Amino acid sequence: MNQDDILFLKGDEIITLFKNRDQEILQAVKSAYQIHAQGDSCLPHSNFLRFPNNEKDRIIALPAYLGGGVNTAGIKWIASFPGNLALGMERASAVLILNSAQTGHAQAIMESSVISAKRTAASAAIAAQSLRGQQTVTTLGLIGTGLINFETVRFLLTTCPNIKTLLIYDLSLERAEQFKFKCQQLSNRLEIAIVSDEHAIFENSEVISFATTATKPHISDIYKCRPGTIILHISLRDLAPSVILSADNIVDDVDHVSRAQTSIHLAEQQVGNRDFIRATIGDILNGVVPSRPDNSKIAIFSPFGLGVLDLALGQLAYKLAREQNQGTTIESFLPIPWLEREE
Ligand SMILES: NC(=O)c1ccc[n+]([C@@H]2O[C@H](COP(=O)([O-])OP(=O)(O)OC[C@H]3O[C@@H](n4cnc5c(N)ncnc54)[C@H](O)[C@@H]3O)[C@@H](O)[C@H]2O)c1
Repeated sequence: MNQDDILFLKGDEIITLFKNRDQEILQAVKSAYQIHAQGDSCLPHSNFLRFPNNEKDRIIALPAYLGGGVNTAGIKWIASFPGNLALGMERASAVLILNSAQTGHAQAIMESSVISAKRTAASAAIAAQSLRGQQTVTTLGLIGTGLINFETVRFLLTTCPNIKTLLIYDLSLERAEQFKFKCQQLSNRLEIAIVSDEHAIFENSEVISFATTATKPHISDIYKCRPGTIILHISLRDLAPSVILSADNIVDDVDHVSRAQTSIHLAEQQVGNRDFIRATIGDILNGVVPSRPDNSKIAIFSPFGLGVLDLALGQLAYKLAREQNQGTTIESFLPIPWLEREE
């Protein structure tokens, strides 16, 4: 490829490139967190485009630069339209642009819902792994049964290999049944039960993952949870501020997650400070703070979802595509220099 060429990657090509590469994906996400925590990144706030009189739909821009061995800039532009499900389409669709950190030139444009789902799930699985320490996880509870929790199951089976039972709950029984069918294909040693509400999940799971499309808190107490339960609050807005304030809180980035009416943001508004956030996952992974000072306390991981993670996996997809000659190269994407033009 020349400096003025650009590589296009389709979603299906990325799925193929990432096949059987869960360990590399986990490693890329882990090191992105570590690099970000060391300060070798630039992460402006995500920008939310919303529509008048419409609380549900949004398109978010996530610009970022990630240093370390990645040394790439770029932006993810991701749309979330929950109503798509009823039309038989995916809720999320996304595009990622990778820019060279040397020239600024866009090097690749790729479909990014696959990358987004994998980086989100990998980050939750890494958090569960580091927060559980020596604790064995056998039962995983899943609230919300879309793509994000499906990918989360896949990565958690790697980082918490003793998981034997999945308890699943969704407002839609049909979605829960589809999810059960897909998870059963992942491993036939898994016991999977659909439960009728969250309580059975709270009572019986060591790790619970929320990936719903709730826009406002709908869980106001978690007293039925076992001591030491790890809650992966991927969807960010399910838990009431009182629940957040009662727990050991770990986030991906304190400034980022304290925005956009997340449960962390609501808790901050209630108490007027962020002292209830104990650590970032990057600092835990770098060994700067302990992963779990009190094993009996319920731990809540709230990841806002950082653009640096998309860059890390986008760069991995780009590297693999170049090595395997995949994707479509558009030659001479950039115009000829203006001094050389005829007019
Ligand atoms: N933090 C991050 O980095 C990050 C990244 C990607 C996605 N997300 C979030 O993850 C969530 C899930 O994404 P997805 O693609 O799997 O969505 P999806 O629309 O495919 O599935 C969401 C499911 O949640 C169910 N649901 C909604 N409200 C519920 C409730 N109160 N209780 C139980 N189930 C409920 C819906 O019926 C649906 O089946 C979204 O909110 C998305 O914004 C977060």
